[in-house]
Amino acid sequence: MENSRTNSESVGGYRDSRGEWRPENPVSYAPIFVFPPKLKQFLIWLVNYLFTWNLFYLGIVLLSYYYLQPPLEQMKTFSFSWISILLIRNMALVWIIYGGWHLYLYILKKKGNKGKYNPRWQSTDGSTFLWNNQVYDNVFWTCASAVPIWTAYEVFTFWLYANGKLPYLDFQTHPVWFVLIFLLIPFWREFHFYFIHRLIHWKPLYDKVHYLHHYNINPGPWSGLAMHPVEHLLYFSVVLIHWVVPSHPLHFLFNSQHTALTPAPGHTGFEGKLGKFLSFGSYFHYLHHRLFECNYGESTIPLDKWFGIFEDGSQTQTERLAAANAFRKFTVTKVVDESPEVKSFYLKCADHAAIKANEPGQHLTIKLPFHKNKLWVNQPETDVRVKYTMRNYSISDISKNGEYRISVKKENKGLVSSAMHDSLREGDVIEARGPKGSFVFKPKKGKPGVFIAAGIGITPILSMLKTVPVTNEDSFVFLAVKERKLLTFKDEIVQLCQANPGIKVFVFFSREKGDEKQDVCPLWECYHRRLDVETIKEILPTNRHFNFYLCGPHEMTQSFMREITNCKGRRSPIHFENFTPIQLGKNRANSNTIVQVNFKKSGKTVEWDNEYRNILEFAESNGIRMEAGCMFGECGACSTNIVEGKVDYNYKTAIKPANGKCLPCSCFPESDLVLDA
Ligand code: FES
Repeated sequence: MENSRTNSESVGGYRDSRGEWRPENPVSYAPIFVFPPKLKQFLIWLVNYLFTWNLFYLGIVLLSYYYLQPPLEQMKTFSFSWISILLIRNMALVWIIYGGWHLYLYILKKKGNKGKYNPRWQSTDGSTFLWNNQVYDNVFWTCASAVPIWTAYEVFTFWLYANGKLPYLDFQTHPVWFVLIFLLIPFWREFHFYFIHRLIHWKPLYDKVHYLHHYNINPGPWSGLAMHPVEHLLYFSVVLIHWVVPSHPLHFLFNSQHTALTPAPGHTGFEGKLGKFLSFGSYFHYLHHRLFECNYGESTIPLDKWFGIFEDGSQTQTERLAAANAFRKFTVTKVVDESPEVKSFYLKCADHAAIKANEPGQHLTIKLPFHKNKLWVNQPETDVRVKYTMRNYSISDISKNGEYRISVKKENKGLVSSAMHDSLREGDVIEARGPKGSFVFKPKKGKPGVFIAAGIGITPILSMLKTVPVTNEDSFVFLAVKERKLLTFKDEIVQLCQANPGIKVFVFFSREKGDEKQDVCPLWECYHRRLDVETIKEILPTNRHFNFYLCGPHEMTQSFMREITNCKGRRSPIHFENFTPIQLGKNRANSNTIVQVNFKKSGKTVEWDNEYRNILEFAESNGIRMEAGCMFGECGACSTNIVEGKVDYNYKTAIKPANGKCLPCSCFPESDLVLDA
């Protein structure tokens, strides 16, 4: 992608070909935690740190403490008069700081769009926002939730100080500490914010709480405190440190006001300067709003770097992330019959580029072109008759020689698996992305693996077995197969057992009659009945912890999960993956109404085609990239904001999309639709 660097702007940046403003230099951390130390850069940073914005906030603190609130003496008992003074003062501060930035940048537009990261202005027609207006929505959450909760923390803490219930420190007795605490507070804030922020990105909390803040993909000053009340409670809890660490009420107020007021310049959506010296804007945090799984913290303590999720905004790094998620072309180098219904396909990067090694259990997402339900590989990409269909297939080996091996069972009425079995040949080129997936084997000492696979569920389990370490701990493999001729990868599993005698295999043939434990392989035990949890419990040694890995049809994994949890009276972790083919249920096939789907970020509007199963495949066929993982409504990776319109689901998804969002892998448009994609 070419950048239009000729369109350089005065604040040290440029617009890329999508119109996004980027700083000229990548985002970097403060030169504190660097080795060898960089003294000159550190001193320049320190002067900036002390004498610009922090000094400004300290000024507000002194003004507030000495002139805009009653003396501590009066706060010994709760009373409406002083509590209301704090509330009014805080509300006024918010309107001055947040409103001031908004007035300057968004109403008076003093900077035009110079240094504005996102070229668009804030949304006034987005159904994700209250009253369809991003600014009104942001102002509401700030004034109705942030200010009262912030004030409540101040009221209780000042009341505690006034009654001598908090550890206290003043300038007269500890002058050095008194000054040092002011300097350390922004560091403490950053540290606290990082871990609170990681916590609210935990999916259950994200879906219920933090989603609200992330509606602001294109943030403005008022977005800074536009959060769910639970997030406000967590965010302002940073001040509770003063309940345990000796400090002065001025320290507390500095911490409190710093927390409440700094999100405004941090979310301006701009980078620029006020006058000659005062810089503002945070591209670091903007990247979090835009790219999501990066830059949780701020740019002083390199926590994101230490956790390996720092994004510096340089085009190379952004594109590297995008490339990791992009489809690449792979040549089919070999096709092998593994059993009457399973074939393995070996895939090598078509341009001979290196591939990322898969973790045991991961899958590839395959994107296949079809025309009139016939596989249509090796055709010009621009052929408009081509429709793409995507499926996840487990990698059944650990990648070697620059190749992945996927193994595919031919399903009854399975469009993709049938086409692959019948028509995909050596030398054909297809598209794939990955490896991806969190169903990954991680050996744990003292918790041997118990691997349970039904039918084609053996594919991820096989790659896991290849990484079981040779130790004196036994691992247990339970295979459920209908009949002997359908047993897939027998030779490979036997070889694994020979190389690693700790792997114990138990095979269950549900449709065969015969003697119990009749040999298929002298190293294995065979049973001629269905695999059930009771048998597993009988076979496993007592009083041990295990790590369970299950892969099979949905009903089986769910019932095994329920029954196996407390195996042998010890609670053991269970990891599972389903492979049940999707039962389509509803779709739009019978509707004649013409529906338009607008992909807002990509700037494309396309008429919906009833031949597609879901919006994800429809988008990919039209050249619009969307994130995806499981592809059947279980992981949430494809979750996308609905700006306008309605969707309906083909089936009941395992996770419920958050308000205002949809899971494009499992739904279709019910009316004209605008998606934030
Ligand atoms: S891709 Fe997993 S929910 Fe859509």
